Amino acid sequence: MSEDKLSKIVSLCKRRGFIFGGSQLYGGLSSIWDYGPLGILLKKRIKDIWWQEYVEKREDIVGLDSAIIMHENVFLASGHLSGFCDELVDCPQCKKRFRPDKAEKIGEKLYRCPYCGIEVDVTLYKPRKFNLMLKANLSAVEDSPLWGYLRPETAQGIFVNFLNVINTTHKKLPFGIAQIGKAFRNEVTAGNFIFRMKEFEQMEIEYFVKEEEADKFFEEWVKDRFNFYIEKMGLKKENLRLREHTKEELAHYAKRCVDIEYNFPFGWSELEGIANRTDFDLSSHSKVSKKDLSYFDEEKKERIIPFVIEPSAGVDRTFFAIICDAYDEEIVKGRLRVVLRLKPELAPYKVAIFPLLKNDDRLVELAKKIFYDIKNKISSVYDDTANIGKLYRRQDEVGTPFCVTVDHQTIMDKKVTIRDRDTMEQERVSIERVFEFVRERLNEEYFIS
Ligand code: GAP
Repeated sequence: MSEDKLSKIVSLCKRRGFIFGGSQLYGGLSSIWDYGPLGILLKKRIKDIWWQEYVEKREDIVGLDSAIIMHENVFLASGHLSGFCDELVDCPQCKKRFRPDKAEKIGEKLYRCPYCGIEVDVTLYKPRKFNLMLKANLSAVEDSPLWGYLRPETAQGIFVNFLNVINTTHKKLPFGIAQIGKAFRNEVTAGNFIFRMKEFEQMEIEYFVKEEEADKFFEEWVKDRFNFYIEKMGLKKENLRLREHTKEELAHYAKRCVDIEYNFPFGWSELEGIANRTDFDLSSHSKVSKKDLSYFDEEKKERIIPFVIEPSAGVDRTFFAIICDAYDEEIVKGRLRVVLRLKPELAPYKVAIFPLLKNDDRLVELAKKIFYDIKNKISSVYDDTANIGKLYRRQDEVGTPFCVTVDHQTIMDKKVTIRDRDTMEQERVSIERVFEFVRERLNEEYFIS
């Protein structure tokens, strides 16, 4: 994999409506991205599958959707107000700020500015700490602000609702609270597409356990989440690995952390972190809020603060890894074919339906009829805006597993041609069997109910 592959992926995402630059009309904003019509379909599939696996199929995990804007004291307790900082250097030439730890190191104290390329001596231009959290003024009066913070992780919404969830669901340990939602960080490192964004989405579970069981559940979650990427997201095993955090790297709240890394075009990088957060968060929120967040252990007949195992995944990084893994090029009849070999369950459209000729009313009418019959059962698209060769290419590039073509023969024998994305083999199938044909080849669980 190479930088070349990265630029091809960025270009495909833009060309086919997966991802656009944020506020592009006005010159864009660095590290902020918008998901287009195709991107949102793939992103929704990722989130739906995660939610089905962990909330719908399991009895021990419940869901939550807490607010993005949170009270300042939440982050006093969590440690984000004091500790969630990046060290940044002000470039004396272009005046932009950069992280020396992510910049090219040229000498003992010399770094290259990633924006204008000059050498910056950090003994002269000393790094300063900047908090990564984004503030919002919640006051109606400008001159007496009331600061709230956009959460930098969805996790804190779970901890502050711990008592509410226990009191309303009567869950017993071990149990988890899952949440999918936006998080915000004022990241300064640009580049690498959607890898590091200022506004991104997380899928987090806080799994509450007894202290003596924390190590066992930690191991189970690492295995479970690693397999999820292979079995449910279709990533190749050789592109995934585990990496244990060193003591120096561990976040202030963590006793242990293992990252699931993906081999992105720019190298191995974090896809998800699984941490043992101990009893840090609940203890700290108890202290700051002065509310008792302990749990009554029926066996021990005493109140305890549960430990927390946290599998914390990024929706955008999962999306990115899926596209990188599925991207493929091959030469077919002397021409380059770009194909996104997505796991069919994830594909934005499962079926595309075309008439062979857009100016033949009989073909158009029949193709539209097939489309309207199938579209409420499975995600499909109708297209007649190009010739058949281009229509196939478009669908290959967005990973549509099946293309259905209505031709003149269809009028006579009531059969269509179904083309398989991966093999490009074509089969004649009767019109009333189109949906069955697709259903037999895809995982039924993910059909529109
Ligand atoms: N609650 C723990 C936590 O937030 P993290 O390692 O900082 O831990 C968890 O983030 C996951 O969220 C990462 O593995 C990554 O997938 C995603 N993530 C974090 N920062 C991100 C960013 N700036 N842009 C995109 N995804 C990000």
